[in-house]
Amino acid sequence: MLVLGIETSCDETSAAVVSGTGDAVEQRSLVILSQDVHRIFGGVVPEIASRAHVTAIAPVVSQALREANVELPDVDVIAVTNAPGLVGALLVGVSYAKGLALGAGKPIIGVHHMEGHLFAQSLEHANAVPPFTALLVSGGHTMLVDVPAWGDYRILGATRDDAAGEAFDKVAKLLGLPYPGGRHIERLARDGNPSHFRFARPMLRRNQQPGDDDYYDVSFSGLKTAVLLAVQASQDLERDGADIARGFQDALIETLAEKVRRAAEQHDRRRVVLSGGVACNQALVKEITARLADVGAEVYAPSVRLATDNAAMIARAGLFHAERGERDDWSLNAFASLPLGRKTHTSTSTSTKHAASS
Ligand code: KG4
Ligand code: ZN
Repeated sequence: MLVLGIETSCDETSAAVVSGTGDAVEQRSLVILSQDVHRIFGGVVPEIASRAHVTAIAPVVSQALREANVELPDVDVIAVTNAPGLVGALLVGVSYAKGLALGAGKPIIGVHHMEGHLFAQSLEHANAVPPFTALLVSGGHTMLVDVPAWGDYRILGATRDDAAGEAFDKVAKLLGLPYPGGRHIERLARDGNPSHFRFARPMLRRNQQPGDDDYYDVSFSGLKTAVLLAVQASQDLERDGADIARGFQDALIETLAEKVRRAAEQHDRRRVVLSGGVACNQALVKEITARLADVGAEVYAPSVRLATDNAAMIARAGLFHAERGERDDWSLNAFASLPLGRKTHTSTSTSTKHAASS
């Protein structure tokens, strides 16, 4: 099966081609165009993102097909992110995918963006397949998911306020670093003294039990406030910046690593899959790997291109659903929010004839 994937949920216009069957899927091409314009505003401006997608989508898709050495008639299914994300941005991808599918007589399938993240690692590591524990950490989401099988997603915990990437970005702003700030904090923290600022580990209490509300959940707003107070109290931010960055990063990482360890241990998983932009953080990967070694679990961390938003993971998730005969019809819509695992497909090839072929 040959799948063209399209991703426009936030500020990356991306298209990719994957092919294969079951878990033997090969990435044939991946084009990612990041919208740099948002740096000026210190955050993604939704309307600008939508307009930039409109400009970029056609050449990005053409390039992905060209790099894969395939033509549109060769494609079996077009997979597109339809939730969650910026609704205007999502609509560009969904509308373009529908137009392409209608014109070429191809079926279309909507993919949940977070499900795409779960599949990203399987394109790089043959072993990054269920059953596994997943930590999805991006600018918009922080979720701990138990994945006994593809398509079966049990959300164990999530953030109660800021996403991990959002916390990185906000702390970076407090320290006068550029947006998006995650990698700048990581770089600065490398030179930081770990014992100068020791912030409380959010949502980590001694004696927490598996049934407790906060056993898997995380929260970063208190940590962010603690950093703000440290910044305000500093007489010389030039001198203290690296130590504050280190203190913040250590607190956030320790919290996430401990929650992942708990999840893997409780569900007896031997594999842990990371995804989302924050999974690019090497200190995070190192700490999770160290903690999971005790449990005997292997940690799979993606390369930067597959950790951040990309269409290869969308094509890969689309392939899974398409192989099961799922399809969407022309009523496929974009949604700003949609729970992971909620079935969005409007038809299956066995029960309903697809609009493109009818
Ligand atoms: O997955 P992503 O590209 O986009 C979405 O939010 O969906 O994630 C972007 C986030 C930003 O908040 C960025 O600061 C963070 O990932 N990030 C990092 C690192 N690289 C990117 N956070 C910590 N350390 C990094 N090295
Ligand atoms: Zn994402």
